[in-house]
Amino acid sequence: MKYKSQKVAYWFWALSMLLLSIQLTYGFIMGFDHLGYDGLHKWIPFNTAHTVHINTLVVWLLAGFMGAAYYIIPEEAETELWKPFLAYIQLITLTVVGVAALAGFHFNWWEGRKFLEIPHELDYLVALNVILFLVILLMTIVKGKKKTTTALVLFGGLVGAALLYLPGMLQFDSQTLDSFFRWWVVHLWVEGVWELIMGGILAFLLIKLTGVDREVIEKWLYVVIGLTFLSGILGTGHHYYYIGVNKIWLIVGGIFSALEPLAFLAMTLWAVNMYRKGQKKHPNKMAIYWTLGAAIVSFLGAGVLGLAHTLPQVNLYTHGTLVTDMHGHLAFWGAYAMIVFAIITYAMPNLTGRKFYDNVRGRLAFWLSNIGIFIMVSAFAAAGVAQVYLERMLGYDFIDVQKKLYPHFWVVIIGATILTTGLILYMINFIKYGLPTDEALEN
Ligand code: HEM
Ligand code: HEM
Ligand SMILES: [Fe+2]
Repeated sequence: MKYKSQKVAYWFWALSMLLLSIQLTYGFIMGFDHLGYDGLHKWIPFNTAHTVHINTLVVWLLAGFMGAAYYIIPEEAETELWKPFLAYIQLITLTVVGVAALAGFHFNWWEGRKFLEIPHELDYLVALNVILFLVILLMTIVKGKKKTTTALVLFGGLVGAALLYLPGMLQFDSQTLDSFFRWWVVHLWVEGVWELIMGGILAFLLIKLTGVDREVIEKWLYVVIGLTFLSGILGTGHHYYYIGVNKIWLIVGGIFSALEPLAFLAMTLWAVNMYRKGQKKHPNKMAIYWTLGAAIVSFLGAGVLGLAHTLPQVNLYTHGTLVTDMHGHLAFWGAYAMIVFAIITYAMPNLTGRKFYDNVRGRLAFWLSNIGIFIMVSAFAAAGVAQVYLERMLGYDFIDVQKKLYPHFWVVIIGATILTTGLILYMINFIKYGLPTDEALEN
């Protein structure tokens, strides 16, 4: 590392890994629930497991992004973080709020709006926490020597994510209005501002790993941002088809969301081209795997599998089925999980000075986790198509159909086991790198 204060990133990533473990555990609980093995039902009913699964997902990714920002911003701005002890306070308060929310979910203390289940009272603490985070970054950028495009895009994405959390705090009696604004958070996060965060991290990694000129890499970043906003904002309409709003959204949502894959395609072309152009000399091969992997798998998961059900004619049948889970798993994995693994893999040797870049465990972690998620996603796809046909087209009862899907859920469990094995290996590497040391400072 170049600046001592970058060390704080490590602790955010450690929190990330902890929450990821919880997410995976509750994923298995749900997987077995789907097979009729619901022995934990009394203590952890399906809705609790689902809420824990998706909220730990969001928070471990956010903690991953925060770590990334604390690592990247000082290096880009060429200065130490502004008041690093505040970053530790931010970490501790984030953890406390997270634990309170997770515990609360087990006692039915929740809001019940998918992805935004954190109780309203805790929302205010989340907001305060994020304001502290953004102030630390802003002050660092202001006092720094340089204001690079990469740093500004990353910061802009994080500010956007914070602002878009606010519509999710509004409360309505009308289901339509509630849904309308819920998507401002959920959709405009993953198909808007989070893409900027991803783009910023990707740009940083490509600059470091390929050695291609910053000017070239940052030009592509503008293209990605342009395509993201052009398609993603009005693309929100793909969630408004049948929720009781104006029918114009059928056309607007259909057209603009069908353009959204272009932004992800641009990211793939960007990363692959920069890699080809670069000197391929960087010793941290696994960081390159995860970086290129994120750029490619995000296009498959978000772009291709998103397109698969984004037209109103299709979504009429697929909405809220396992087809959505097929897409949700690969999109979150490719775009956001993999970019977090990429930045951690890149940063760890720099933080700790232990340079075991390319060990077998690291390679297995990459391949097993990716093979595992592809198996899971294929099983969700098969189950989803069968569900749509039997339940939505032939009109069979929901539960009768779910029972017909048992074989697919065994495949989900097999894929999840391979995925989890890979991720355990990743975490073993994370732990083995040890704690960051001041000796690892580069001169
Ligand atoms: C041990 C591994 C995992 C298992 C067994 C698992 C299983 C499941 C199950 C059974 C559901 C609910 C399906 C339903 O709608 O009834 C679900 C939902 C979900 N999971 Fe996982 N999962 C795992 C890992 C992951 C990972 C690594 C991610 C993200 C990178 C993820 C993201 C999601 C998302 C976003 C949803 C909600 C999807 C939607 O909106 O419909 N899961 N998962
Ligand atoms: C990395 C980016 C993306 C992520 C993480 C993501 C994740 C998700 C998740 C978790 C859901 C379920 C949301 C819920 O029910 O609350 C969802 C729904 C949906 N996504 Fe994406 N998505 C991404 C990009 C895209 C793109 C680019 C498209 C279109 C090309 C798309 C099309 C859709 C559609 C149509 C739905 C609604 C499914 C339904 O009606 O049940 N997504 N996405
Ligand atoms: Fe969306």
